[in-house]
Amino acid sequence: MGAFLDERLERHERALQVGCRGALAASYVLGRRLVARGRGGLILTSSGAGFQGTGWVAGYSAAKAWDLALAEALWWEWRPHGVDVLALCPGSTATPGMLGNAPRLDAAAMAQPEDVAREALDALGRGPVCIPGEDNRRARAALDRLPRQQRVELVGEQTRKLFTG
Ligand SMILES: NC(=O)c1ccc[n+]([C@@H]2O[C@H](COP(=O)([O-])OP(=O)(O)OC[C@H]3O[C@@H](n4cnc5c(N)ncnc54)[C@H](OP(=O)(O)O)[C@@H]3O)[C@@H](O)[C@H]2O)c1
Repeated sequence: MGAFLDERLERHERALQVGCRGALAASYVLGRRLVARGRGGLILTSSGAGFQGTGWVAGYSAAKAWDLALAEALWWEWRPHGVDVLALCPGSTATPGMLGNAPRLDAAAMAQPEDVAREALDALGRGPVCIPGEDNRRARAALDRLPRQQRVELVGEQTRKLFTG
C-alpha cells in the first residue's frame, strides 16, 4: 500500500507471486481434480480494487484484476463440468492484514471476515462474481455508471485517503 515508486521492486514482485502465480497454480492443481471428479467449487479472492486500476495500491489492483478475469473465465469453462468458480470482490474488511496496513481504520465499522466468507459461500454456484455487502454493491453500481477515467480518479483518491487519513 502506498505510492508505487516508494516500494521496492522485489516487494511488488513478491505480491505478484502470491496474488497471481499462487492463484494460477491453485486453480490449475485443484481445478484438475475438481473437473475430474465432476463437482466442486473454487473461490478466488479478488477485490473491489480489481475492477479498475487503483492508485496507491497499483500493483495490488493489477493482480486483483488478474484474479477476477481468471475466475470469470474458469467459471465459464468449468460450468459444464459441474465445478463452480467465483471471483470474490470484497471491500475493506477487518482482517489482520488490512488492519496492519491501515491501523487508523475503525475495525467495527468495516465488513467482518466471517460475514464476507459466508456471503461468498452462499454465492458459489450463482454466478461468476460476488461483491459482498449491500453498501459495496451499491457503490459498485454507481461507479460502473461513470466513465472509466473518472472511476480511476475517484477510486485512487479514496484509496489514498484510506491509507493516509
Ligand atoms: N481485507 C480486505 O480489506 C480485503 C479487501 C479485498 C480483498 N482482500 C483479499 O482477501 C485475501 C485475504 O486477505 P486478508 O485481508 O485476509 O489478509 P491477511 O489478513 O493478511 O491474510 C492473508 C493470508 O494470506 C496468507 N499468505 C500470505 N502470504 C502467503 C504466502 N506466500 N503463501 C501462502 N499464504 C500466504 C496468510 O497466511 P499466514 O496467516 O500463515 O501468514 C494469511 O492467511 C487477499 O487475497 C486480499 O487481497 C482483502
